[in-house]
Amino acid sequence: MTWLITGGAGYIGAHVVELAKSSGRNLVVLDDLSSGISSRLRNDIELVETTLLDSASVNRVFDEHKISGVLHLAAKKRVGESVERPDYYWQENVGGIQNLLSAMKTHGVKNFVYSSSAAVYGQPDVLFGALITEETPCAPINPYGATKLEGEVLSRAMAESGGIKVAALRYFNVAGAGRAELGDQYIFNLVPIVFDALERGEQPIVFGNDYSTSDGSCIRDYVHVQDLADAHIAAMEFVEKSDPGFTAINIGTGQGASVFEVLAMIQDVTGISIDPIIGERRKGDPAALVADVRLSKELLGWQSSRDLRAIVTSAWDAWKLGHK
Ligand code: UFG
Repeated sequence: MTWLITGGAGYIGAHVVELAKSSGRNLVVLDDLSSGISSRLRNDIELVETTLLDSASVNRVFDEHKISGVLHLAAKKRVGESVERPDYYWQENVGGIQNLLSAMKTHGVKNFVYSSSAAVYGQPDVLFGALITEETPCAPINPYGATKLEGEVLSRAMAESGGIKVAALRYFNVAGAGRAELGDQYIFNLVPIVFDALERGEQPIVFGNDYSTSDGSCIRDYVHVQDLADAHIAAMEFVEKSDPGFTAINIGTGQGASVFEVLAMIQDVTGISIDPIIGERRKGDPAALVADVRLSKELLGWQSSRDLRAIVTSAWDAWKLGHK
């Protein structure tokens, strides 16, 4: 029996692929290599280079392999770009999952793990300091989050019609690297943005220091990408052995870190002194977004084990390797 991993050449996908392979699974990876990098995959991993929008190619993958489950990570994920090009995000993310689920239905494949995002919550209206549970209302504030939610809506409907069993993993802020070669190559999130600034001899910018948090900067739940990979394997095993219908599960640590705390950790790990510039608030940033992680523990038996220092240390090792 084979797992299909879409987006397996991407930053997160490659960690999932490597872990699944090392635990003895048969795999096939589907990736259009628009942001994925084929060299992230070991030579013994089969890669089908196609877009999910090509439904004939997607169906062929199912025809040619005995697929028992699908881990669907392939997606466009740049929030800013999604605001500029919402139609493109709908086409790629919603069209992509639609073709994939149709192919699963045609081929009688039921087990589905979907990469969702904490972006589905938008700016949650919770009391200050409260954790985000899976019951917190979903109200995305950008097209990226909306397309992730659309994927949940469709997979939920297909689960309700009896076609599939779904674990939708709502990732919080993913960072770090399992090994340096698998690190995030893009400079779109706080940790790589800070490394990039420091490398250029500049100071990072803190987007607002007047939030009602302990130090005034925004708080997020940073989860190590290797812990996230573990969560995917646990989620597929959960779906395989039970009948969850559709279940959305937060994947975070349950611990918040402020922007200033992340900067302090980066200073400590890199040895580069940081004196940040205080900038304006960034539009759409909630003050705090921290996961309630009881459900992942209860259903998947999974919880994060790597802390912020491990995240920053591994991200820095990956950065140094990629920017020699
Ligand atoms: N930040 C700064 N300065 C920067 C960059 C970021 O202060 O130069 C702050 C942001 O304001 C935010 C925090 O650092 O408070 C993290 O920002 P990121 O842009 O790294 O991440 P976001 O929390 O905005 O979003 C991330 C992912 C989304 C995902 C979301 C879910 O990028 O894809 O987490 O929680 F949807």
